[in-house]
Amino acid sequence: MNHRRPENLELLSEAFGGQEIIESIFTGESLEVDGVEFVSGYVADSSAERFYIVKPMHLIDRYRDLAAFAAGGRIVELGIAEGGSAALLCLWADPATLVTVDNEPSPLTALDEFADAHGFVGRLRPFYGVDQADRDRLAEIMDAEFGADAIDLVIDDASHSYWPTRASFETLFPRVRPGGRYIIEDWEADIAMADSVRIALQDPTSPHHERARKGLAKAMGRPPQPATRVSMSRLILELVILAGGQSGAIADVSINKSFVSITRGESPLDLHGFRLDDHGVHGHRLLVERPAE
Ligand SMILES: C[S@@+](CC[C@H](N)C(=O)[O-])C[C@H]1O[C@@H](n2cnc3c(N)ncnc32)[C@H](O)[C@@H]1O
Repeated sequence: MNHRRPENLELLSEAFGGQEIIESIFTGESLEVDGVEFVSGYVADSSAERFYIVKPMHLIDRYRDLAAFAAGGRIVELGIAEGGSAALLCLWADPATLVTVDNEPSPLTALDEFADAHGFVGRLRPFYGVDQADRDRLAEIMDAEFGADAIDLVIDDASHSYWPTRASFETLFPRVRPGGRYIIEDWEADIAMADSVRIALQDPTSPHHERARKGLAKAMGRPPQPATRVSMSRLILELVILAGGQSGAIADVSINKSFVSITRGESPLDLHGFRLDDHGVHGHRLLVERPAE
């Protein structure tokens, strides 16, 4: 079984009452690039010739554009999983350096063998056992790998949780070059999951109705839990507010159902002290209960 599944997917799938819905987005379809096969799935069985990539096919397609954007450049990825996205980015972008990070401590031999076979030794730089919320460690890696050179593209596909994602953003975004892009994947996972539950509960003919009903009954039987989880969509709204303000930090925010793309503005940002809270993202009362009409 897969040991690299992020904890929040467990929570979401448990709330839905089953694992199958999560699995259904991975179709098992595959594509081949330079003799390497990439299979849409989450299975701990990657090899240098055949990687599992934790994305549906339509999102893998979008990676072509991201890779073209950062071709030959400096890329940072958060979330290695089975190595599929890192290997694919190497083949499509031929980066000067791709740093990729995961909190899972065990190294993926498949990635090392892939780097060896395809000429990416020294350019594909995986770091294991690194939490994306660990600002000091992330900054240390960036300093060592890039020195004063700015990053062209960051892709955060790690925890999909508000606080760790925010910490990485505050650490890495000041290191992105003006015009460079910062991608946050799967920002909508909790919204989409909650909506799927709502739709399945409302429709007794839905194949997921019974599972959702049982999941809900189970959840209601539990003692009340303190509300500690913050939706990722809150971070996206904070970034939209930052883009609308006067900081010049963000030139553009583009959102689609799979990811948010934030383009770095021209203003210099403090490499070690950049904090969203210092830029008024909570000052507009946009993220509080709305008053009645
Ligand atoms: C969705 S998977 C990444 C999929 C991969 N990018 C791909 O497309 O094949 C998420 C990965 O993030 C890692 N992860 C989860 N929370 C993390 C955290 N706080 N810091 C670093 N990595 C984390 C998990 O161990 C997992 O390997």
